[in-house]
Amino acid sequence: MAMKEEVVVIVVGAGPSGLATAACLNNFSIPNIILEREDCFASLWKKYSYDRLHLHLAKQFCQLPLKPFPTTYPTYVSRDQFLRYLDDYVSHFKISPLYKRSVESAEYDEVAKAWIVKARNLSSSNNEIEVYSSKCLVVATGETSDAFIPDVPGLNTYVGDVIHSTRYKNGKSYENKNVLVVGSGNSGMEIALDLSNSGANTSVAVRSPVHILTREMVHMGLVLMKYVGRDVVDSLVVMLSKLWFGDLSKCGIKRPEEGPFASKIKYGKYPVIDVGTYQKIKSGEIQVLPAIASVRGNDVVFEDGKSQPFDAIIFATGFKRSTNKWLKGDEYLLNEDGLPKPTFPNDWKGTNGLYCAGLARRGLYGAAMDAQNIANHIKQTSLLL
Ligand SMILES: Cc1cc2nc3c(=O)[nH]c(=O)nc-3n(C[C@H](O)[C@H](O)[C@H](O)COP(=O)(O)OP(=O)(O)OC[C@H]3O[C@@H](n4cnc5c(N)ncnc54)[C@H](O)[C@@H]3O)c2cc1C
Ligand SMILES: *[C@@H]1O[C@H](CO)[C@@H](O)[C@H](O)[C@H]1NC(C)=O
Ligand SMILES: *[C@@H]1O[C@H](CO)[C@@H](O)[C@H](O)[C@H]1NC(C)=O
Repeated sequence: MAMKEEVVVIVVGAGPSGLATAACLNNFSIPNIILEREDCFASLWKKYSYDRLHLHLAKQFCQLPLKPFPTTYPTYVSRDQFLRYLDDYVSHFKISPLYKRSVESAEYDEVAKAWIVKARNLSSSNNEIEVYSSKCLVVATGETSDAFIPDVPGLNTYVGDVIHSTRYKNGKSYENKNVLVVGSGNSGMEIALDLSNSGANTSVAVRSPVHILTREMVHMGLVLMKYVGRDVVDSLVVMLSKLWFGDLSKCGIKRPEEGPFASKIKYGKYPVIDVGTYQKIKSGEIQVLPAIASVRGNDVVFEDGKSQPFDAIIFATGFKRSTNKWLKGDEYLLNEDGLPKPTFPNDWKGTNGLYCAGLARRGLYGAAMDAQNIANHIKQTSLLL
């Protein structure tokens, strides 16, 4: 287990946040490496997302620092276009992540005043551990690093197909099947629409209240937020949603008490940006069912005690983070769940040269800001070293 490399900055994760951070560092000629456990950058977008995915937010809120989207791009960028943009981004800023490096521990050495980072090299024959050291460490492992499926009693006895939303590509293999989507976030709602369009008899199990908005409402809210307070924007957007969608409770969907932008910042609960699912719910093509309680054979039992058979279940139940398993000795920056404790706009900076990018529940827009703040801060402090 030899010391492999010493650099100024180690970035963990080659998603959009890690790439943006590396680009800003390269812009200042600050040496850095990215350690990425997958065999490609932006793995979430390349490998773990569905075909019809588009950026949910208008393009000006999704571009990374120093390189805007091509002017020919539409307002809502598709997954393929976003990936092409990232390809150009990576070659333009000469970013070359080290792939198949899964970071298993990172610890600050008070004596050496450096971070010691251990990564498993998944491409070596015996998966050997490599050791890196750096002055600064950037956690850019994403809000969505580990797919999460809840512990449903009886799920292990289920005879149908079970997948997490990250494994869903398209509805081809689900035609004429009875499919249950668990979870009513953006992924769940869009996958339900995709399934229904592909001829699956689709149901969505909805556990908690959710805001449903249109892309335009979100766009307007984000723009207005620059001029008026969040509460004003929230009440306006909720009013518009009520006018546009009407009474959602008739379809089994409740609106949360708190406004959509407040919920997002406080609990990381994104509003659902409707891309056509609601119309299908209203017409009865997609059924809304209560939360799931347990599974028996091929029957799913719901919280109201009723049960139905399904051929497949797709869990769009979100993600967890496992940063606390590998990041040692940080009491300040990240909480148990791997999210920053300091609030915006100070969410990116820890102590001893520790930083995080893209974890403040502000999407790509927040990631771009974090990346620039981090690079600027490292530039300033490295002058003092
Ligand atoms: C379906 C979907 C749609 C979204 N749409 C939008 C949108 O329209 N607009 C928007 O602003 N945001 C959107 N987001 C939210 C967010 O912007 C994206 O998730 C974005 O990819 C986040 O980038 P990231 O780099 O922070 O994380 P990720 O893209 O998740 O990248 C993190 C990387 O870290 C790697 N990694 C994790 N742990 C380790 C480890 N221990 N060692 C080494 N590598 C590790 C992972 O393999 C991954 O490649 C969406 C999210 C999802 C899931
Ligand atoms: C890129 O570098 C230039 C010159 O060093 C600097 O003026 C600019 O602010 C940098 N951009 C970012 C986003 O860091
Ligand atoms: C479609 O799914 C719903 C909900 O599970 C079920 O009640 C209905 O019988 C199904 N329809 C068909 C044709 O299988």
